[in-house]
Amino acid sequence: AKIALITGGFTGEAEVSLKSAAFVTEKLDTTRFEVYKIILTPQSWYYVDDAGIKREIDRKDFSLPLKDQLIRFDLAFIMLHGSPGEDGRLQGYLDMVGLGYTSCDTLTSALTMNKAYTKTLLGDIENLYLAKSVCLSADDRAEKEQQLKHLLKLPYFVKPNGGGSSIGMTKVKKIEALADAIDRALHTENANKQVLIEEFVRGREFSIGVYMGKQSLQVLPATEVVTTREFFDFEAKYIPGLTDEITPADLTIAQRDRVKGLVKEIYKRLNCKGLVRIDFFLEENTDHFYFIEINTIPGQTEQSFIPQQVRAAGMNETDFYSELIDVALA
Ligand code: DAL
Ligand code: MG
Repeated sequence: AKIALITGGFTGEAEVSLKSAAFVTEKLDTTRFEVYKIILTPQSWYYVDDAGIKREIDRKDFSLPLKDQLIRFDLAFIMLHGSPGEDGRLQGYLDMVGLGYTSCDTLTSALTMNKAYTKTLLGDIENLYLAKSVCLSADDRAEKEQQLKHLLKLPYFVKPNGGGSSIGMTKVKKIEALADAIDRALHTENANKQVLIEEFVRGREFSIGVYMGKQSLQVLPATEVVTTREFFDFEAKYIPGLTDEITPADLTIAQRDRVKGLVKEIYKRLNCKGLVRIDFFLEENTDHFYFIEINTIPGQTEQSFIPQQVRAAGMNETDFYSELIDVALA
């Protein structure tokens, strides 16, 4: 099958996307798949051919004109974090031109790009907790900022409601630092121009991959994130050595079963497709799992959790990616 591995993107996560795509490219089974890396930038959608020449995608059907042949793809493997690969825009376009893809559909992608909206859909899942939060935009900021200190207990996490990789995120310990943190989140690339302010949950942090396999939904082993920094920020995510990542995480059997159930329930509730990764806090004294967010195009760089989890599950990455592709092609 001919696979378009789509990467790049229009946000600060583009560099992460390119690293994820490099990792995946190395692992894909080239005896079965003919892989073309297509890079999307705001200016150009292109492939670099064997002679080093940039070849533009034909946007009317996503075909690729090479020197002496026209490539028509069988599937798009989306490896693009942030917009337009994780917020549903690319998915909508691919639906229009009739090319299948490996990940969630337009609605699920767009919805989960909005962390606050996503939480409103998960509120009634048994045993799942949501940090108290307020979502604001430039328009209602003044009013909501006033109310905030009566509604939420410090410290807060302040983040772009439509962002990723912790870009533009601040942990606010003193109310005096709030206004700057909101400014920062508002001025970061943010798919919906809103800011989400959440109560800090004291405890441990976990991240868990889940995907639709050939037979059934498969939950990967959890990773626990232990960072020496204030929180798991952009640097902690991508500079090796700043964070301990323990896979499989040290959870009791009861905790493991509970979170596995939550992961499956969230995946089904949001009508996910392919591989996603869900992040949680486990609160210190209560043993409650709090939903942080869901990533519909989870990081797959050398440093990312998903490859660690795949190996911890006793699989090799090549078989894992073949399974994702086979399910998407079926
Ligand atoms: N947004 C980053 C890439 C992740 O979730 O892994
Ligand atoms: Mg994220």
